[in-house]
Amino acid sequence: MNKLLLNSIKNIQKTTPIWFLRQSGRHIPEYFEIRARAKNFIEFCLNKDLIVESTKLPLKYYNLDAAIIFSDILMIPWAMNRDVKFVKGQGPILNPLIPEITKIQKKVNIFQSLSPINDAMIILKKDLPSHISLIGFAGAPWTLSCYMIEGEGSKDFIKTRTALWEAKKWFEELIDTLIVYIAQKLELQARAGADILMIFDSWSHMIPYPYFEEFGIKPIAKIIELLRSQNIKQPIIGFPFKAGTSLIQYSYESNVDCLALDWTVDLDWALKNLNTSIALQGNLDPSSLISENNSYLEESVKSILQKMKNKKFIFNVGHGLTPECKIKNVKDVINIVRNYNRDD
Ligand code: CP3
Repeated sequence: MNKLLLNSIKNIQKTTPIWFLRQSGRHIPEYFEIRARAKNFIEFCLNKDLIVESTKLPLKYYNLDAAIIFSDILMIPWAMNRDVKFVKGQGPILNPLIPEITKIQKKVNIFQSLSPINDAMIILKKDLPSHISLIGFAGAPWTLSCYMIEGEGSKDFIKTRTALWEAKKWFEELIDTLIVYIAQKLELQARAGADILMIFDSWSHMIPYPYFEEFGIKPIAKIIELLRSQNIKQPIIGFPFKAGTSLIQYSYESNVDCLALDWTVDLDWALKNLNTSIALQGNLDPSSLISENNSYLEESVKSILQKMKNKKFIFNVGHGLTPECKIKNVKDVINIVRNYNRDD
């Protein structure tokens, strides 16, 4: 089996693999039709047939090297009975944890609660062409705790940050509990056939600097240690979104095999300062895919390819595709990447 994407994490390849964060979602019209078949977003994420169909959907449009299992990072808080709902126009809403008051649930059976993900992955493993890498994922402990304490999205996650200073012991207990559940969700996906696992820390830029190592890096290293102790060998992609200069320490100490870079990272800086013995992924601004006449698109894609020519690199956007992204632009980017000669 020759999986370009999987191989590119291990060794430098002759061609650059490509996939997109949020490649399945609202920028594809058929997504709405699939979604409408479920009562709500959680039911959607618990229906194995709908998971399979939406995971495969982007492959109908695009020549990609990976499929990412259709799910959500908030399925762990859902399994922890936090009453997760996705409200149109508002995003996720959860029953918020009250620091030091709410008891943290310790007896959640992740393997049982999230078994539809297992079932869907087994089907996908059989259905997908053998060159496609199947990606499993989970949210990082910090980002999950942000949603669980705030009870919704936020621009500054003040309640979560306050809990850090006021209820540190309780907060540590929450993080330690999440580490176990996240490792279990990743283990479930690895055993069901995921080729690669990815950990999203979408709010890592909210961690106060003195705590970055404790809550942004060590929990990731702990999750990977737990996985390796269970004999899970799949490579791990870490995505500490907008972590800035903390990316340096993350790249050396989190133990991820590949580091996903957001669109604010200067690749020249990254190549000088980060641990480039691991693979890198990402960096293209997803908003460059919105305009119908972005004359800089080709130039910016080629600039990334040029800089990453002799590196272990996966082409991707620096955050998820938004509903406004145009299918034609995504196709154009894929063509540029496919036609780029790394030897020139
Ligand atoms: O194609 C894929 O990437 C696979 C599926 C996927 C989803 N969510 C489906 C989804 C993945 C990998 C995620 C991860 C996720 N979920 C993250 C980490 C990545 C990131 O974006 O930073 C986060 C923070 C979430 C939490 C989440 N889920 C939010 C904040 C929202 C609401 C967003 C919005 O704009 O309404 C979701 C819902 C969600 N998850 C959608 C999809 C396709 C949109 C749901 C819909 O309205 O149909």
